[in-house]
Amino acid sequence: MLAKPLQFPADIPSDYEMLVDEPVYDPAIHLAVDESRQVETETLADFGYNKHEIADCPSPIAVGGPFRVLSPEGIRVTTEVLSRLRSTAESDTGNRAPNYVAGGVYKSRFLRDLSNCTELAGRVSNIMGTPLGAHTIPHQQLYVNFAPEDVSKAVDNWHTDSIDYDIVILLEEPDTFDGGKFQYFRGTDREAAEIFGTQTEELPVGFSDELPESRVVSAAKTCGGEAVCQQGAKVVHRAQKLNKPAERTTLVISYVPLDVRFKDQNNLERIIEWDHAGTAAELARHCSWRSQARLQNILEDLPINSDSESVLERLKFAVADVNKLIELLEAN
Ligand SMILES: [Fe+2]
Repeated sequence: MLAKPLQFPADIPSDYEMLVDEPVYDPAIHLAVDESRQVETETLADFGYNKHEIADCPSPIAVGGPFRVLSPEGIRVTTEVLSRLRSTAESDTGNRAPNYVAGGVYKSRFLRDLSNCTELAGRVSNIMGTPLGAHTIPHQQLYVNFAPEDVSKAVDNWHTDSIDYDIVILLEEPDTFDGGKFQYFRGTDREAAEIFGTQTEELPVGFSDELPESRVVSAAKTCGGEAVCQQGAKVVHRAQKLNKPAERTTLVISYVPLDVRFKDQNNLERIIEWDHAGTAAELARHCSWRSQARLQNILEDLPINSDSESVLERLKFAVADVNKLIELLEAN
C-alpha cells in the first residue's frame, strides 16, 4: 500500500524567513551517492527486538552505514548555507542538543531541495529495504546540530527520535575533532529505558548517563559528507561530547515510509507539544496523507461482497491516523 511522496506545502509558517540569494541545489554537483557500494547494516533483530515489534515496522533494518552522501562541493555549499543560519540556532531547555537549528527547510531553499531529493531518498530506501519519501512533517525534514560552545555538554545525549527514519550526515573531516562520535546502542529501547530508569516513551527527552560500553557502537565515518541512516524511533543513539572545542556539524534529514500499511511510528503526542508555528497544519497533512492512501486502497481493492464487519474494520484502519490527530488536537 504505497503512498506517493507528499508535496511540500505551498506556503511556509509565518515565523520563518527564507534566505535569499542561495546557491541552487543540483544533485549532479552536490550529491555523491554511489549505489554500487555495499553498505553495512544491523537489523532490529540484531538489537533484540522481538518478532511482533519487527512486524510493526516496514523495514527490518535498524542502522546502515556509513555511506557517502555529499560531494566536496556539496559540503562546501552546505557549510556556507549553515553559516548563514547559525544565528537562528536554538538551545534545548531540557537534556537534548544545546546548539541546533530546526525547521531548516523553511529557512533555506537549498536545504529544502536537498531534503526532498528523490535520488538521496532512493539511496536511503535501498539501504533500509523499504521505500521512503521526504518526511511529511516539513519542520522535521531537516535539523542541524552544531558543536556546543561549552564542550562539557554532549552534542546530543542518548535518545530515540520522535520521527521514524533519518540520516545523520557529518560535514567536517572526522580527524579534525576529538570525541563527538555518532554512537548507537546495540539493544532495544526497552533495555535502554530500564538502564536509565524510565519508560520508552520518555527516551526522546535525552539521557546523559552512560550505557554499557561493550554494547555501544561508534559509527566509523571516514570522511566529511558521509552519513549513517537509522530507524531513529527504535535506535537509541547520541552524539558524544567533544574532548576539546572544534567545529563538528551534522545534518539530520528525515524520511517517512511510503508503505502506509504499518503503524505510524512518528511520535505525534510529543511533536504536537513542541507547538512550532505550523504544527497543527503539518500534522493534519501528515495524517491525511496516510489516511488518503488507505482510503484509496479501499476504492481500488475492497471486494464488493465484503461483509459489514470487514468493511468496518477497513474503514476504521483507513481513518485511524486522522481520528488520532482529532483526539490530540481536542486534548491540547
Ligand atoms: Fe536523533
